[in-house]
Amino acid sequence: MSINQERVAIITGGNSGIGFATVQKLIAKGYTVILASRNQEASKEAIERIHAATPNAKIESIPLDLASFESVRACASAFQAKEYPLHLLINNAGQMFDSKEGKFTADGFEMSFGVNHLGHFLLTNLLLENLKRSAPARVITVSSSLHDPELKQGPPADFDYDNLKAEKYYDAQVFYKNSKLANMWFAYELNRRLAGTGVTSNAVCPGFVPAAIGAKRKSPFSKFFFTQILARMPFARSLEEASDSYIGAATKPKFESVGGKFIVDGEEKESSIDSHDEEKARILWEKSLEWCGLDEAKI
Ligand SMILES: NC(=O)c1ccc[n+]([C@@H]2O[C@H](COP(=O)([O-])OP(=O)(O)OC[C@H]3O[C@@H](n4cnc5c(N)ncnc54)[C@H](OP(=O)(O)O)[C@@H]3O)[C@@H](O)[C@H]2O)c1
Repeated sequence: MSINQERVAIITGGNSGIGFATVQKLIAKGYTVILASRNQEASKEAIERIHAATPNAKIESIPLDLASFESVRACASAFQAKEYPLHLLINNAGQMFDSKEGKFTADGFEMSFGVNHLGHFLLTNLLLENLKRSAPARVITVSSSLHDPELKQGPPADFDYDNLKAEKYYDAQVFYKNSKLANMWFAYELNRRLAGTGVTSNAVCPGFVPAAIGAKRKSPFSKFFFTQILARMPFARSLEEASDSYIGAATKPKFESVGGKFIVDGEEKESSIDSHDEEKARILWEKSLEWCGLDEAKI
């Protein structure tokens, strides 16, 4: 089969956690998978694990550091040089950059906002023509139910344009939630802008997945607490369940031409009132274009 007859997916952060569990399922479904990841050694190991289970799996790696616009542009160019179609883009990479003081991207943005939102905003826009040419195609952006201030779990999102670079204060949880609210605005606004193209955009929440969080914890106690205690709680989702949620949004026929939804546990779920604010989503889009140095007319 030539590459033009195959289904091709790019997933960011696909060499660990929920991303890797998703890659295993995409491979089982016959996708050619591109891991867009910042750690090439980890990607090499992930590819070896995939090949050990499925020797004929089609899986490749392209370097991507979402904390650098230059790296995001290089990643998109490297993919385009392959001249592959693109049917699925999963914007999965992201994390809470848990530190007392803010960390910043190469371009000066606070790390959660820069990596979780801006890096994906730029990557998706650079790949839009590839997606449109391969339609029907889907973009899945991984957000979190924590984007919703009504959830009342810790300090709520506080999306303030005068504090995006932590000029006023820094709180890792608030900035993570802000980035996940930005993911919602982006996913919904992208879907509006893609109307009629055959490309859809949805947001997904994998649920609370302690196995993924615990795997990266350095302290043995914290690792044990997440992977052995919290992972057994009824409210926790396993890597298997969380990746099923991505796979449902990415491949289920019922979501084929459905966009602008928040998908949790494989089903549409209502997202926060704020996430549906079209004016806020439009403003974020315009500002993100400017920050990323994108000219929409040329995309
Ligand atoms: N686990 C949960 O309970 C939960 C709940 C709601 C939402 N989520 C979301 O689910 C997604 C996947 O997270 P996970 O739980 O599976 O955690 P994970 O295993 O830590 O995966 C996060 C991925 O993001 C990558 N990443 C971080 N910074 C990056 C950068 N600058 N450039 C490129 N890649 C970068 C990481 O790469 P490295 O391996 O190089 O660090 C890793 O592959 C995230 O968007 C997260 O916010 C998770």
